[in-house]
Amino acid sequence: MTRILAIANHKGGVGKTTTTINLAAEFGRQGLSVLVVDLDPQANASLHIGKKHPSEVPVTSAELLGAEIEKLPLAIQEDTHLEGVSLIYGSLALGRAEDDLKDAAPRPSEELRSKLEPLDGVFDVILIDCPPSLKLLTSNALAAATDVIIPVESGSQYGMYGVSDLLRHIEKIKRVNPRLKVLGALLMRHDERQMVCKFIETSAREQIGNILPIRIPTSTKVNQAAIAQTSLHGLDRSAKISREFRELAQHVATMLDLKLKKG
Ligand SMILES: Nc1ncnc2c1ncn2[C@@H]1O[C@H](COP(=O)(O)OP(=O)(O)O)[C@@H](O)[C@H]1O
Ligand SMILES: [Mg+2]
Repeated sequence: MTRILAIANHKGGVGKTTTTINLAAEFGRQGLSVLVVDLDPQANASLHIGKKHPSEVPVTSAELLGAEIEKLPLAIQEDTHLEGVSLIYGSLALGRAEDDLKDAAPRPSEELRSKLEPLDGVFDVILIDCPPSLKLLTSNALAAATDVIIPVESGSQYGMYGVSDLLRHIEKIKRVNPRLKVLGALLMRHDERQMVCKFIETSAREQIGNILPIRIPTSTKVNQAAIAQTSLHGLDRSAKISREFRELAQHVATMLDLKLKKG
């Protein structure tokens, strides 16, 4: 069974896209066949790892959501800046697609799931980069996913703001997708010397229950990697943040029962 991992938090700027890209990069580099689905109208993941501009791609996730299943092969673009990683691009049209789903689809939150079903066994893992909202696009991601990671901005006193809404939303989606499992919170921009990070860590543990045992530090390399259209490993494999993402990939692979092939 292909594992489908949603990276979700309806707060913007917490590190969803950074997590999606660097996990995908590590999985791909270590021999897995990976698909990234960009569900964010801002299409940051697509701009980072895609070789085309989203406007040049005939079928992005926006078209795919409302389309017949025959469109699926056109949506999967195999050529990206990351080894072993294919991409279903996101685009600005996702905003409109979300409105259309609400009006027209028989099961508005289950369109993505039905579109990804034929890919079961084709990819080892599918990562879904969610938009910064709790509306239908995120519902579609959660209804399609087997697992979800919640990146939390550890360096901000407001890092946990809204997380209880997300957890309630996940519980609601579990009625249509009982297999959905919260792998844990991922503490982003973490610095254990700072009081605020300790505070967020404690409240994430209380509210979300599980915290992934890897903490991602703040690093200017994150923006540099985006500019260079590469992963953190590709930019500077010896940087601390690159090491942490390698460990995260290893940990998540173990949790998802995925076998990484090289170190
Ligand atoms: N660990 C980090 N250190 C420094 N900058 C980061 C880190 N994680 C994310 N960023 C930066 O913060 C911004 C938001 O991150 P992003 O991953 O796009 O969040 P989201 O997808 O949740 O909106 C981006 O400019 C990104 O480069
Ligand atoms: Mg993003």
